[in-house]
Amino acid sequence: MGKVITVANQKGGVGKTTTSVNLAAGLAVEEKKVLLIDADPQGNATSGSGVPRIQSRKTLYNVLVLDEAVENVILPTELPLLWVLPADRNLVGAEIEIVNSENREYKLKNIINKIKNDYDYIIIDCPPSLGLLTVNALTAADSLLVPIQCEYYALEGVTELFDTLARLRRSLNPQLNIEGLLLTMYDERTNLSSAVAQDLRDFYGSQVLKTVIPRNVRLAEAPSYGKPIILYDIRSRGAESYIQLAKEILSHE
Ligand SMILES: Nc1ncnc2c1ncn2[C@@H]1O[C@H](COP(=O)(O)OP(=O)(O)O)[C@@H](O)[C@H]1O
Ligand SMILES: [Mg+2]
Repeated sequence: MGKVITVANQKGGVGKTTTSVNLAAGLAVEEKKVLLIDADPQGNATSGSGVPRIQSRKTLYNVLVLDEAVENVILPTELPLLWVLPADRNLVGAEIEIVNSENREYKLKNIINKIKNDYDYIIIDCPPSLGLLTVNALTAADSLLVPIQCEYYALEGVTELFDTLARLRRSLNPQLNIEGLLLTMYDERTNLSSAVAQDLRDFYGSQVLKTVIPRNVRLAEAPSYGKPIILYDIRSRGAESYIQLAKEILSHE
């Protein structure tokens, strides 16, 4: 039975997509069979993992709203053990179109249940909000991974996210675990990065993952080539850190 890890933080630009793509690729390189689900209408995880954004392609929208069979929508990637369930702008509509449907929070969970046995890991990239798509992703999840950018207001966002998590555990998903808080875009030359890291470790203790993702320009370049970092520049510090993250996540089993 595959493990579902949802990557969420309602703040934008904190490294959710970078983490989703590169953790998924890292797990695939560690010989796990992985499905990356793009649940963000921006479709950045889709394009960043090397699936071209063509017009006619079916996406998560077709599965969520039009009851398309999920197997028909999943696409292979350059990595033999990594598949993608793509997203595009249409997904904006899904949030509105499913709002009045029965079990609206469980839509994604019900879809994933049909394919959970086919993968070792299912990674879900969320949009920068706590709307219905993110709630669906959290309801479907076994665990939550929270990328946190090492900047001044980092802690505030996390508090709000943890309130949502507490509510979800009371109602939609009592089993939801925390996979970890992941420090991203860590800049060792600044005092701010290390101060934020220290604050988070003081406050959240061992929930903060040991792996820290450094600020690394290669990580920012890779998406424009449609490649995970391990295919773009395997020798970069970014690649090294995401392989280390994949290993740390594997060690949780
Ligand atoms: N560790 C990093 N080093 C350098 N740039 C990064 C790093 N992580 C993410 N970025 C860049 O920062 C921007 C925001 O990251 P992204 O993963 O898209 O965040 P989110 O999905 O949370 O909005 C992107 O342009 C991305 O390429
Ligand atoms: Mg994103």
